[in-house]
Amino acid sequence: MSEYDLLVREIHDCTRCTLSAKRTQAVPGEGSLDADVVFIGEGPGFYEDRDGRPFVGPAGKLLDELLASIGLGRGDVYITNMIKCRAPNNRDPLPGEISACKPFLDRQIDMIRPKVIVTLGRYSFQRFFPGETLSKSRGTPRKLNGYTAYPIYHPAAALHNPRLRPALEQDFGKLQKLLADPGTAPPEEPEEQEDSEQLSFF
Ligand code: URA
Repeated sequence: MSEYDLLVREIHDCTRCTLSAKRTQAVPGEGSLDADVVFIGEGPGFYEDRDGRPFVGPAGKLLDELLASIGLGRGDVYITNMIKCRAPNNRDPLPGEISACKPFLDRQIDMIRPKVIVTLGRYSFQRFFPGETLSKSRGTPRKLNGYTAYPIYHPAAALHNPRLRPALEQDFGKLQKLLADPGTAPPEEPEEQEDSEQLSFF
């Protein structure tokens, strides 16, 4: 069994936090392990918990459309979430749940080593850039521990508030350019961020 298959099995068997008790199934993530880009959402919702796949509900349909708009399909990218099990009533993930899942996400990133890591929405963004505001930071790539992080709005936010949609579409356009030339990302962030346990992808 491959290292990745073992990881997926561990995620399915995980009981590190109480979310495991209520899930239908864990949702590890899916896509290409050779992907240049990894998308990190918040956590599985109703449809994802039911199907065992990330972003298969309405937000996922929009994500598929946005990917298609820049010539990508699911098989070209890797899609996962900060937490791998659905939270009751889709409530926001708790800090303990995020830390319980952190080693899984770190291992996924470590295996794929993408050119660009797209954080979808506030939770995913603040996991790596605590205390910062997504509306100010979105659409600007930045270096983080050797990776290029690219924060954008969550597709569900654009469904909720259609005024965010043009920004999301624009940010996908920029992502296409970033993937074509990852050298356009700015240099590594200031050192203080490297010391923070919160910020590492590992
Ligand atoms: N929203 C997320 O953040 N992740 C999913 O998988 C689905 C909806």
